[in-house]
Amino acid sequence: MTRSFDRLLVAGGAGFIGSNFVRLLRTTRPQIEITVLDMLTYAGNRANLAEFEGRQGYRFVHGDICDPQLVDGLAADVDAIVNFAAETHVDRSLLEPLAFIDTDVRGTAVLCDAARKHSHRAFLLVSTDEVYGEVREGRSREEDPLKPRSPYSASKAGAEHIAHAYAESFGLPVLITRGSNTFGPYQYPEKLVPVLVTNAIDGLPLPLYNDGSAVRDFIHVEDHCRAIDMVLHDAPISDPIYNIGSGIETSGNQVAEAVLEILNKPKSLIQYVADRPGHDYRYALDVRRITDLGWEARINFAEGLERTVRWYVDHPEWWRPLKSGEYWDFYKGNYRPLKR
Ligand code: NAD
Ligand code: DAU
Repeated sequence: MTRSFDRLLVAGGAGFIGSNFVRLLRTTRPQIEITVLDMLTYAGNRANLAEFEGRQGYRFVHGDICDPQLVDGLAADVDAIVNFAAETHVDRSLLEPLAFIDTDVRGTAVLCDAARKHSHRAFLLVSTDEVYGEVREGRSREEDPLKPRSPYSASKAGAEHIAHAYAESFGLPVLITRGSNTFGPYQYPEKLVPVLVTNAIDGLPLPLYNDGSAVRDFIHVEDHCRAIDMVLHDAPISDPIYNIGSGIETSGNQVAEAVLEILNKPKSLIQYVADRPGHDYRYALDVRRITDLGWEARINFAEGLERTVRWYVDHPEWWRPLKSGEYWDFYKGNYRPLKR
């Protein structure tokens, strides 16, 4: 099965994974014309795509995926939509859940509706392994029930249900990827890896929830983007859902120790803080379906982390301006002392 596209709408393309995806497409499939639609929330950054501004085959539209008129006009000119746009940080979803429902659920519905009206050839929703909820034992398979536990993961599960409803009711060719914890260049410094890396560079404490033992499956953003590209082009619509991950479990403690070792900083910078409410202690994915499609991770965690730390060391002009004002208001409100 191979699908090809002349024009794609990449919603949320100015964020972390979206901008890396646009970079991948510009390099490997330069014939595809790309329109990026992004509202430029605190997490979106037009500078992530500065190298493509003014180039043929690329255009940027500043706007909201929840705006049906705007989305309809853009959808009329493309063959498919890839949706990265979302509110994405679990800790923020505990402070402002409604913003997540608006963008992640309603926004996805607006995009699906436009894709249906314009008879698109595919609608790919970039979803997350968090929709399975906490997995204490074993590995999640694509058929497993969705049991999200945070407002973020519930909103992403809602988006999946909306997309599925459009597939069943209107025949929209829907594809869904469920990626694991992604890290690499251009990640806003609120998720674990960039918080630890940028704090360690500055000699600030590295906050770990509770005892730092919660585990995640970390995947480098280039591997994640290659998998999304493969699903978009090669996956059968009859088998529409794909887990994407490395299949390897790493704890917060292991991430922090590796960052400190790369930067040659003392372990005493690790600071255990009060746990995240409703913290999912483990996710683990069965990735056989995506590997059967021909994908495999190429960048192991140690190499990916080394490259990522180097990128943040070399690009202070990208992240330093982000760590000011509202950033520290959120940060100070989010982390509380650990009481044993
Ligand atoms: P991000 O927060 O870096 O980027 C999100 C982008 O969406 C930003 O550019 C933001 O401006 C844009 N956006 C937000 N609301 C919008 C709206 N209403 N209209 C238009 N644009 C809007 O997120 P990310 O980490 O790049 O994640 C991208 C997608 O991948 C999300 O859907 C997320 O759920 C999913 N995902 C992320 C990870 C991860 O570890 N980061 C893992 C699996 C899946
Ligand atoms: O699994 C995919 C998901 O990964 C994505 O869908 C989400 O968009 C993304 O935010 C991410 O969610 P997590 O909650 O897993 O990522 P986060 O980086 O916030 O946390 C990773 C782990 O590290 C988790 O166990 C909580 C812990 N943590 C996180 C932060 C930010 C800390 O111990 N300290 C921290 O400061």
